[in-house]
Amino acid sequence: MTVRIAIIGAGIMGADHARILAQDVPGAVLQVVCDASQDRARAVADACSAADVSTDPLATISRDDVDAVLIASPDDTHAPLARAAIAAGKPVLCEKPLSQSPEDCLSVIEAETAHGQRLVQLGFMRRFDPSYREMKDALLRGLIGKPIMMHNFHRNVEALPNFTGKMAITNSAPHEFDVARFILDTDYRAISVFQPSAINTAKAGAPVFMVLETDGGQLVNIEINNNAAYGYDVRGELVGESGSVEINTPVHTRVNSAMTASERYAPDWRPRFAEAYRLQNIAFVRFVQTGIFPDIASDAWDGYCATVVAAAGVKALESGQRILISHIGKPKLYA
Ligand SMILES: NC(=O)c1ccc[n+]([C@@H]2O[C@H](COP(=O)([O-])OP(=O)(O)OC[C@H]3O[C@@H](n4cnc5c(N)ncnc54)[C@H](O)[C@@H]3O)[C@@H](O)[C@H]2O)c1
Repeated sequence: MTVRIAIIGAGIMGADHARILAQDVPGAVLQVVCDASQDRARAVADACSAADVSTDPLATISRDDVDAVLIASPDDTHAPLARAAIAAGKPVLCEKPLSQSPEDCLSVIEAETAHGQRLVQLGFMRRFDPSYREMKDALLRGLIGKPIMMHNFHRNVEALPNFTGKMAITNSAPHEFDVARFILDTDYRAISVFQPSAINTAKAGAPVFMVLETDGGQLVNIEINNNAAYGYDVRGELVGESGSVEINTPVHTRVNSAMTASERYAPDWRPRFAEAYRLQNIAFVRFVQTGIFPDIASDAWDGYCATVVAAAGVKALESGQRILISHIGKPKLYA
């Protein structure tokens, strides 16, 4: 079965998703590219041979020639557009975060629960990244014993001029909140947030360092440093009682020259997680074709959980206190 997909939002991520769907996902047809900017929609549609363009996301979602939707517009549009896709009974791959507000996430969960079926696959694509998959596999095979700590570094080259510490928690860190929760198979109990006083923390992209305590008794630390200057660099290490697993950044070459061996860093997340995005999008199209939700993908419940942690993290940043994390009981649909 061919799946006709509409992409909403044709910026950095939307253009990348459009290219992946057009080039790398058998069974996917890029039907409509919708963006608030007609020119941007047209440019991406032309580059990826999409059938049509639009500037109206709600009209796009309800079109008869659209089977499924991929949302890659800004964070505050995700929940309302996901609800519109649910109302139309269409599967949706929604970029992270589901919303920056836990209440807004719950509105999507309520809509899905009323619909009686999961339709929202959330774009926490690290679950599909081969290095995190191998980390989880090593844990499940008992290679490192009982897990006790997970270290995470998330570094970008340069922060946007308006990028605050709060945004590091609500926009960047949800990837780590989700993937650590997925690997450890636990929820979080509390979060503490620190910033180094050695630099001006009012400066855009000032680092944020978080320590999370899990229900399983593990400690998870996350460094978000969006002004790292040297490259896009994501690291992770899961430490168990009898060993550890580190994720490796996939690199294809090492240059040996002038008595030095060197490897290149990617400038941003797209090359580093290319395989994860590709596998995620293939899983989404398979979900639309079969009706079976991909077993490792995150859903609206996972999106809610990540946002609850982020909201607690913002409180911890603003108050300097350790903040307890609590959420509603998991609805049956997500059991
Ligand atoms: N999964 C990941 O690794 C990852 C990485 C980066 C960004 N993201 C997420 O992807 C989303 C998009 O990020 P981006 O970097 O591509 O942003 P961007 O600013 O480059 O693109 C957003 C696009 O959405 C369009 N837009 C805005 N409002 C719209 C609306 N109501 N309807 C249709 N189009 C609209 C804008 O015109 C713009 O072209 C964000 O939510 C971000 O958090 C995810």
